[in-house]
Amino acid sequence: MKINNFLSENEIKLKIHKLANEISKKYKKKKLTLLCILKGSFIFASDLMRELENNKIFTEIFFINAKSYDGFNSTGNIKILGDLSFVKNKNILVIEDIYDTGLTLKKIINEILKYKPNSLEVCVLLYKKKSRKNKIKIDYIGFKIPDKFVVGYGLDYNEKFRGLPFIGILETDGD
Ligand code: IMP
Ligand code: MG
Repeated sequence: MKINNFLSENEIKLKIHKLANEISKKYKKKKLTLLCILKGSFIFASDLMRELENNKIFTEIFFINAKSYDGFNSTGNIKILGDLSFVKNKNILVIEDIYDTGLTLKKIINEILKYKPNSLEVCVLLYKKKSRKNKIKIDYIGFKIPDKFVVGYGLDYNEKFRGLPFIGILETDGD
C-alpha cells in the first residue's frame, strides 16, 4: 500500500481560507450552525470554524455520525447516528469531507429537512468528478478531484491515516 502526495497541508489551508471568505459573505450578520458529519469531516470542520471566527462569523457546531464505507467501497447502506432536532429554525451548513456517490449527503439532507431548518447549505472539501445517480446541490466546494481513493486530513482507509496533515491518493500494489 502506497500513499502518493496529492494536496499539501498548505494548499488545504489556503483553500479553507478561501471557502471561509465565501461562506462569510453569505452569513454576515446571520447566525450560522455548522453540522459536521463524523468522522471524516472533524478536522475540516474545526479548521473551517476557526477561519469563520477570524472573519467574525460566530458559529455553533453539532455533530452526527454517518458511516457507509468498508475499505474502498461504499456499502450503500448508510447509518446515521445522532439527534437532529436542534436544526429547527436554524441556518444549517452541512460540513462533509467528500462527495463521492452522494448517498450519504442525500440521506442526511432528507433527514435534516424533516426538522424544518430556516436554511440549508452544503460545504464539501473534496468533490469527486464522476457521474452519479444521487445528485445534490453543493453550495461550497474545496477541490474537484479525480475518482481515486484519498486519505488524510480526516479521511481514512479502515480507520487508518486520518491524522495525516496532507491528502494523499492511496494505491494498492497487491498487499
Ligand atoms: P458517499 O455516500 O458515497 O458520497 O460517501 C461519502 C463518505 O464515504 C464520505 O463521507 C467518506 O467518509 C467516505 N469516502 C468516500 N470516498 C472516500 C475516499 O476516497 N477516501 C476516504 N473516504 C471516502
Ligand atoms: Mg464521511
